[in-house]
Amino acid sequence: MKRIAVVTSGGDCPGLNACIRAVVRYSLSKELEVYGIRRGYQGLIEGEVFKMDRSDVSNIIHLGGTILKTARCENFYKISEQRKAYQTLLKYNIDGLVVIGGNGSLKGAGCLSKNFNVRCVGVPKTIDNDVSGTDICIGFDTAVNTALDAIDRIRDTATSLEKIFIVEVMGGDSGFLALFSALAGGAEDVLIPEHRFDIKNVCQQIKTGRQKGKKSWIIVVAEGAIRGEKVAEFIRKHTDYDVRVTVLGHVQRGGSPTAQDRIIATQFGYTAVDALLKGRTRCFVGMKNGKIVLVPFENREKLKISIRLYNIVDILAQ
Ligand code: F6P
Repeated sequence: MKRIAVVTSGGDCPGLNACIRAVVRYSLSKELEVYGIRRGYQGLIEGEVFKMDRSDVSNIIHLGGTILKTARCENFYKISEQRKAYQTLLKYNIDGLVVIGGNGSLKGAGCLSKNFNVRCVGVPKTIDNDVSGTDICIGFDTAVNTALDAIDRIRDTATSLEKIFIVEVMGGDSGFLALFSALAGGAEDVLIPEHRFDIKNVCQQIKTGRQKGKKSWIIVVAEGAIRGEKVAEFIRKHTDYDVRVTVLGHVQRGGSPTAQDRIIATQFGYTAVDALLKGRTRCFVGMKNGKIVLVPFENREKLKISIRLYNIVDILAQ
């Protein structure tokens, strides 16, 4: 192994730069040449490759986004596009690739290594935290903390004005971000796609809570479950309460990574290079029960949510 390349793919999230830094610096310490690929798989297809040295990753550990840029590349599932990517790797004599990405990007990495025998190790990142085989993905902790900060601030207003607030969070079709921020923020209710819900019950809980003297509510809604505005309309129609909606949106994708995200990103990047050096391929780095593991690409599927945590939010809100 002489030359490795690193690419960030899919949506950005905090912690990508910390991971890139670890890949570059560890590779250089092992006297490997390191190449950066710009704009995700699209850049790999189009040959946007540049040699990196240690100063390229100076002073980036604390920055959100990705210095390599990123993109979603639906075309990458086409074998013709994978062939172009493979040709780029051949052109630069790259014999190991680190792909930092979510479910779609790790699937793409699996295709590239299976169809063209590219030595490839993945690193999971997504604020959705929905990659199975790992308990945690880069970016999730920062996104939870960003949502939590918003919930805490909204609670000040909700308590002062005695209103109901709906906070819609991202997460794609997964409820991790909603559930964790609801749990940490002491939300009165949380609606996630993995658990059936009925807005009529939400209204009923509000009425019962009122009878017990409760005056304000924070209801966290996962974007993949239902839109916050729809829940608000229903509550307004079926009760006489005033409801406000805050959609957090892309705010959750940016910002300086938390210490936990930097530590995970650094360990994952380091381990990915180590795995390539040890001849490992067709796998991604994960964290299982506090231990760093390597998971075969084929074992990747959507991660299931713990119903226990959902029940805790529900019980503690009563
Ligand atoms: O997968 C990460 C994510 O931020 C999801 O939570 C969200 O649904 C989606 O990406 C938004 O994608 P885009 O930035 O393309 O609008």
